[in-house]
Amino acid sequence: MLNFNLQFPTRIHFGQGKIEELGKEILQYGTRVLMVYGGGSIKRNGLYDQVVQVFNNNGIYYKELSGVQSNPRISSVRDGVAICKEHNIQLVLAVGGGSSIDCAKIIAAGAKYEGDAWDFFTRKARINEALPLGTILTLAATGSEMNGNAVISNEATLQKKGTGSSYLIPQFSILDPVYTYTVPSEQTAAGTADIMSHVFEQYFSPTPGTFIQDRLAEAMLKTCIHYAPIAIAEPINYEARANLMWTGCLALNGLLSAGKRTDWATHDIEHELSALYDITHGLGLAILTPYWMLHVLDEQTAVRLAEYARQVWGISENDEMTAARAGIKKTAAFFRSLGLAGSLKEIGVENKSLQEMAEKAASSRGLGAFKTLHYQDVLEILQAAYEGAEL
Ligand code: NZQ
Ligand code: ZN
Repeated sequence: MLNFNLQFPTRIHFGQGKIEELGKEILQYGTRVLMVYGGGSIKRNGLYDQVVQVFNNNGIYYKELSGVQSNPRISSVRDGVAICKEHNIQLVLAVGGGSSIDCAKIIAAGAKYEGDAWDFFTRKARINEALPLGTILTLAATGSEMNGNAVISNEATLQKKGTGSSYLIPQFSILDPVYTYTVPSEQTAAGTADIMSHVFEQYFSPTPGTFIQDRLAEAMLKTCIHYAPIAIAEPINYEARANLMWTGCLALNGLLSAGKRTDWATHDIEHELSALYDITHGLGLAILTPYWMLHVLDEQTAVRLAEYARQVWGISENDEMTAARAGIKKTAAFFRSLGLAGSLKEIGVENKSLQEMAEKAASSRGLGAFKTLHYQDVLEILQAAYEGAEL
């Protein structure tokens, strides 16, 4: 295990009715709020009215930025920054999934910066300051509610890029599983695939001696495997929604990555997919992940992939390679059982873009840590995933 520093600054208010904490949380930072949300799900399920009532009951002045799209755009960020500057906003409140939260994070940083917010993604500028940020989460997936990451798309350049800063970590997040009752089954499935992918990216690591991190990771994977089918069959099952919501949060808050090197190659490849085709992040990951696993499988990595197969899927094969392959098949079959597509061609990706995506994803120093990937590796993963090749 490697040395590490770890801090969890976000106050989590978890459970049914926890919106009762919202007024006093906001008032710690001021009375002028920008509320950031997506395409209207919070209006349809009544959460919007609850938030506005809290504003009204507490004398909070608020402006709104609505219509934040999945794979949030830099143009939405720019609109939000302008509102913050014009109206002297003191806190940004995201109400939604990872897209609204990520957009709100960069708005919070952009409000304290003179230049254009895209500079944070081109490394032209560092985030040195941000407005305080709060979130009300409505979809179990990204973990953005408790971390300092944000991923934004630039529609003009067809790029999707991430950045991270401790200034982007929310001050507080309200996690009420009831708000996820209305998440449609395809988003529940994609969100689960995203959570599991976050675990994989940290579990498949070259760092030895991380027994505790590995067992925590396996528990999170088993929770997803157990509860996602229940949440899809019974959308208002509180236990299932609560377990998925808390797992999503824990999977990317720094707990699993502490003390080890982490991979992230599958995410880097997926970001190129959603930059070019605007597909759902978790769906892209679900298709790519088994092909990434198969591609990195060799004599050296088989031990860890076999461990995954045995611990998470109960595979009893003695031979490492055979066990590893069985675990990969189980992973793909599980994603299919949630209703997710199994090939890139099924979701409208074109063969002719695979090379371009591989070029963009593969950096000169290589991708990943579990096994380093270069252009040809990425292309082969994309080609196999495109065809939905046999695993
Ligand atoms: O826009 P609305 O109307 O709210 O609808 C959304 C959207 O259509 C809907 N939805 C959300 N909550 C709902 C609901 N529908 C009904 N009831 C509810 N309670 O679900 C759709 C997807 O929402 P979105 O916020 O886009 O999903 P997600 O949370 O999966 O976020 C995806 C974005 O986060 C980035 C992804 O790349 C992608 O851009 N990521 C952010 C990370 C981070 N900040 O740490 C890490 C991740 O790996 C990821 O890259
Ligand atoms: Zn993700």
